[in-house]
Amino acid sequence: MDAPVTMDVMTKGQLAGRHIVLGLSGGIACYKAAELVRALAKEGASVQVVMTEAAQQFITPVTLQALSNREVYASQWDARAPNNMAHINLTREADAVLVAPASADFVAKLLHGRADDLLSLLCLARPIERCPLLVAPAMNREMWAHPATQRNFAQLRADGATVLGPAAGDQACGEIGDGRMLEPEELLEELIAFFQPKALLGKRMLITAGPTFEPIDPVRGITNLSSGKMGFAIARAAAEAGAEVTLVAGPVHLPTPRHVRRIDVRTAQQMHDAVLPVAAHHDVFVATAAVADWRPANLSEHKIKKDGKKLAPSFELTENPDILAAVAKLPQRPYCVGFAAESHDLLKHAREKLSRKNVPLIVGNLGPATFGQDDNTLTLVDAAGHRELPRADKLTLARALVAEIAARLAADKT
Ligand code: C5P
Repeated sequence: MDAPVTMDVMTKGQLAGRHIVLGLSGGIACYKAAELVRALAKEGASVQVVMTEAAQQFITPVTLQALSNREVYASQWDARAPNNMAHINLTREADAVLVAPASADFVAKLLHGRADDLLSLLCLARPIERCPLLVAPAMNREMWAHPATQRNFAQLRADGATVLGPAAGDQACGEIGDGRMLEPEELLEELIAFFQPKALLGKRMLITAGPTFEPIDPVRGITNLSSGKMGFAIARAAAEAGAEVTLVAGPVHLPTPRHVRRIDVRTAQQMHDAVLPVAAHHDVFVATAAVADWRPANLSEHKIKKDGKKLAPSFELTENPDILAAVAKLPQRPYCVGFAAESHDLLKHAREKLSRKNVPLIVGNLGPATFGQDDNTLTLVDAAGHRELPRADKLTLARALVAEIAARLAADKT
């Protein structure tokens, strides 16, 4: 295997070094732009706010200047720039223009290449190859559903823009439906994902995550300390890389990463039954779940009570199916990646799992040092040797693992 890579622990933020032009057109969702500016800045981005006249009816430049720590631009006649060309200058250093909120009227204007205010002018004048345009629609559901709006957004996509959302739900007008702007946190996640390399575009990845829970009686069960964080981070990283991701999750309290299809299960048998029928339709299977090896042979219908004689109940256990080994045996098997959470002799156990489960890659980590933690150290073990991914947060490690898997898939093809 290659020499160890140095991982950059992301203390600087996910958007460190990125410069974003944030455009606001007129809509009540302008109130969310203040939070969005804060969220972008917190992740290390510098933000240049540009507003239309209509946007200033909803939120003041003062608020956005204070939060972005930069003067806000609103007029194409603004003479502050020495060359008097704000519409050119503002996008030349930008990594992206994000219009949030994007009103129906503003988008109608954009796609015709009209440019009679600073924001539409700079969208038209931006270097299209190196300064992508992202738009987050925000409007009433009838406006969103109108054929004219749908036509306009389809054309905007065809012209190369990325459309983020909209979401469905309660609207400021009191109606319910599609058209809400995504929340600031969601827009942030979308933007971070946008900048990730698309190494798994067109690929399908299936992931198991979290613990399983094997019931003993209606109120008790056997489980373990897996938090699911590593598996969820891999699901996010794979989706960011362009994969279509299905995540089969045991009982955990974690939000579903954006664009990930999640199937919740409780027991190992349920996890097995969710995975096996669909596994062959995927390119990659990553088994991060800490599946209970055993389950009580008989489920007690009622809560088991103390009998007053101080005799502890005894249970017969039966072995759970090995999901990873079963997937690896499929004739049309996906590329299989297993995990090994050990308390000692990590390499020895990982190598043993590699051959016992007949998979090409095992990712080893020390159980007590990772369960529930936000960071980790991984050891990649294959038939040729092993390689360390040094301590980093789980999302950084997940992205490195996804890049490794993508490289292996590409090499398999050649
Ligand atoms: O079987 P063992 O726990 O040693 O191996 C761990 C690896 O196998 C992990 O990838 C885990 O998700 C997977 N596994 C499984 N089904 C089981 C037990 C483990 O998929 N019943």
